[in-house]
Amino acid sequence: MTAHKSGDPTTLNRLYGRAKGKPLRAGQQALVDNLLPRIAVPLEGPVTAELLFGENCPLHFEIGFGGGEHLAFRADLLPGHGFIGAEPFINGVAQALTHVSGENPVGGGPAQPPLGNVRIHHGDALEVLSRIPDGSLSFLYLLHPDPWPKARHAKRRMMNDGPVNMFAAKLKPGGEFRFGTDHAVYVRHALMVMQRHTDQFEWLCNKPQDFQVRPGGWPETRYENKARTVYGHEVWYFRYRRK
Ligand SMILES: C[S@@+](CC[C@H](N)C(=O)[O-])C[C@H]1O[C@@H](n2cnc3c(N)ncnc32)[C@H](O)[C@@H]1O
Repeated sequence: MTAHKSGDPTTLNRLYGRAKGKPLRAGQQALVDNLLPRIAVPLEGPVTAELLFGENCPLHFEIGFGGGEHLAFRADLLPGHGFIGAEPFINGVAQALTHVSGENPVGGGPAQPPLGNVRIHHGDALEVLSRIPDGSLSFLYLLHPDPWPKARHAKRRMMNDGPVNMFAAKLKPGGEFRFGTDHAVYVRHALMVMQRHTDQFEWLCNKPQDFQVRPGGWPETRYENKARTVYGHEVWYFRYRRK
């Protein structure tokens, strides 16, 4: 799918990639029909912790949550915090809903109560992010963004100056931006981009292990597990503090 592409590909209003894969299973479709409307981010207007969660709780935002394993893990870990995830791929949304509903807890094991602190947007993350007031986010996650490895597609990468300026605007001072990738081209590109934003972000890194070893509280997603175990990829983990 390529939707609402604008003339300048560095602008923020972009959505590339696939929106639909295999047909949903009946249980997943039921969650999309019944649970998603109850926890969906409103399609218009400001997006605040008060409006979504009824209180001024710390706000987390995940861009492109895939199957939602990281989103659900974090939401379960931090029940007093509010989590917003955006993902245009409906099969990923449906998978995430199985975790949020408690039917399929991310850690495995028997069904759990639903996670009450997750809101989902089925669509472009940057569109929702643009509606969050500046300085609102405590955490922002971008894990294994689509790599767009061809040089002529580099402007489609989520790690570019336009989106990174928006990440900086939406985070509180002291808030954290977490970025992970298993893609060698992407990691070089991302480091180069972040090097242009040192006035906004401090890289929390003193030694190579800080980006080579998975930080605590950062669970592995299915995507990442496959990258490591099936394709033998190295994975890099980056934490940046908003200045
Ligand atoms: C390689 S997958 C990684 C999924 C997940 N973050 C993980 O680590 O398991 C990249 C994801 O980004 C999503 N994506 C691509 N463009 C997006 C956009 N503009 N907004 C939100 N998600 C997007 C894709 O649909 C895909 O699910």
